[in-house]
Amino acid sequence: MASRYPAAWLDELRSRSDIVQVVSGYVGLKKSGRKYWGLCPFHGEKTASFSVDAEHQLYYCFGCKAGGNVINFIMEIERCSFQEAVELLAERAHIPMPEMQEDPEYELRRSRRLRLLDANRRAAQFYHETLFKPEGAAALAYLRRRGLSDGVIRKFGLGAAPDQWSALTDKLTSDGFTAEELVTAGLAVAGKNKNAAGETRYFDMFRNRAIFPIIDMYKNVIAFGGRSLGKQEPKYLNTSDTPVFNKRKGVYAANLLRQQRHLDHVILVEGYMDVVSLNQFGVEGVCATLGTALTAEQARLLRRFAPAVYLGYDGDSAGQHAILRGLEIMEQEGIPARVLDFPDGLDPDEFIRRDGLEGFRRLPAISPAVYRLRRLKEQHDLSTRDGKIGYSRAAAEIIRSLDPVERETCLRDLSVETGFSREILLEQMELNAGKENPVRESGIPKKSVSARRPGDSPAPPDTSAQETLLSLLATGQIPKDMISEKDFDDDELKSIYAGLISGKSPAALVDTAPDDETHSRYVRILLSPIADSTDQLISMANQCLARIRKSALQKRYDTLMSQIGALPPDDSSVPALLKEAQDVQAKLRLL
Ligand code: GTP
Ligand code: MN
Repeated sequence: MASRYPAAWLDELRSRSDIVQVVSGYVGLKKSGRKYWGLCPFHGEKTASFSVDAEHQLYYCFGCKAGGNVINFIMEIERCSFQEAVELLAERAHIPMPEMQEDPEYELRRSRRLRLLDANRRAAQFYHETLFKPEGAAALAYLRRRGLSDGVIRKFGLGAAPDQWSALTDKLTSDGFTAEELVTAGLAVAGKNKNAAGETRYFDMFRNRAIFPIIDMYKNVIAFGGRSLGKQEPKYLNTSDTPVFNKRKGVYAANLLRQQRHLDHVILVEGYMDVVSLNQFGVEGVCATLGTALTAEQARLLRRFAPAVYLGYDGDSAGQHAILRGLEIMEQEGIPARVLDFPDGLDPDEFIRRDGLEGFRRLPAISPAVYRLRRLKEQHDLSTRDGKIGYSRAAAEIIRSLDPVERETCLRDLSVETGFSREILLEQMELNAGKENPVRESGIPKKSVSARRPGDSPAPPDTSAQETLLSLLATGQIPKDMISEKDFDDDELKSIYAGLISGKSPAALVDTAPDDETHSRYVRILLSPIADSTDQLISMANQCLARIRKSALQKRYDTLMSQIGALPPDDSSVPALLKEAQDVQAKLRLL
């Protein structure tokens, strides 16, 4: 999130773009306590969990965990880049744009990326034009045979890579691109054998294929997928990662998604062809992963376009497996998900061709639990007693985690399927709960399935007191010398501390986070604490410090004791260790 604007200018932009006023332009806000509250514009909700913190100039949704400063808010709501958001706010606040800060390295990287994007754009144009020329006749015939109309071919900018060795490379080289640039962009490959003059020869990466340009939400052509026109392998050839393309971060058709406002869900499918085909039939909000399994980054990207995601993977067994994995990711990211379970092993393209838009609309969007139960049922032979028992046990495990309404419906279905009464199934659920947690807790079912499972990494150390301390420090009302860097365990906390000490505002600090995850953590930490007076703030800080220092001492004490325990009693270092342990214990008592 590094920016190329002078920090002081950005500070001014932020301070003249009051976050409450800016957000009010999009979301109805009501003041309650020290914060403003409204319905989150980034996920569907009926009760307000979206908050705006006027003091620290941050927003945060306690539901979907979206958050940031005023620039981040504009980026999310307008679906634009940092730069575009900054320009929009500057215009709104009538602040002239600064002379761009001179940063040669940044400029170099930027101009290289721009060159690659330019090469990609020209390549896309070349492929698209070729499609309607004799060299593209085979690809055009192929796309038409697959039922695509000229309208949808143009909408997606589909193209043809001619059946020639270096048509595109020659064209772009004559446009002034170097062979290295074309190789970096993934458009050309270097041949193994040199020509008569001893020079390396370069060939087109895509030959004799139908071309699907991959365009990001800012309309940059970032990569290509090439479909073979017949049985040649590989069926799809995709651009590998390049300086402008990371297949784990983007989705196919992001450019179109961004134009579709007020979608109530995004439909995620597996193939380019599925996206194009569903579009042709009039389905909105469709996109695809780029030949890899769904990643958390992609899930978060999708959340920007709609409040829920429908997984519409192929109806074959690979697709079904991918759905189960995809559902886990959605759950981890807190994104409501549903599944379109295509019948008869069909993929979305095949299904909509067979059953039409009507059939597609009739396809139920089933809940993750119902989907999991469906898959589970297939693994058991319900005509046998053992099958019914095994299925009931496993199903009870899933049903246990549901909210009461869905639990009741699923229980009823399960009872019909297995012949076990509702009461017996309930008892099974209780039994399962007991196995996992021997101390029976009031029988209240767990709300979420994101509970830790065996094999997960251990719980992270408790840094809540340190985080609260930082939010107190961020108010600017705590004496700075109360706290030192040593009070913080991890690097992120240390760097927030350093930023605050150097005078950065919370809203400026969140932009220094290196990635989305850290950004979200920074925002959460830097929200202003609830307190009415400076005295109260200081007393809270003292409590945090006591907790932090106490737990540091306790940790030191435990380490010393286990060191001592591991040594023979007559070891020469034991007395010193014991002495330190006693000192630590004395300090602990004082606290
Ligand atoms: P059609 O056969 O054209 O209908 O393709 P499909 O959309 O049914 O594709 P499929 O389900 O086979 O694959 C889905 C996605 O996986 C494609 O859009 C590609 O991104 C990727 N993919 C498929 N085959 C290959 C391959 O051979 N190599 C690579 N790298 N990716 C592939
Ligand atoms: Mn297909």
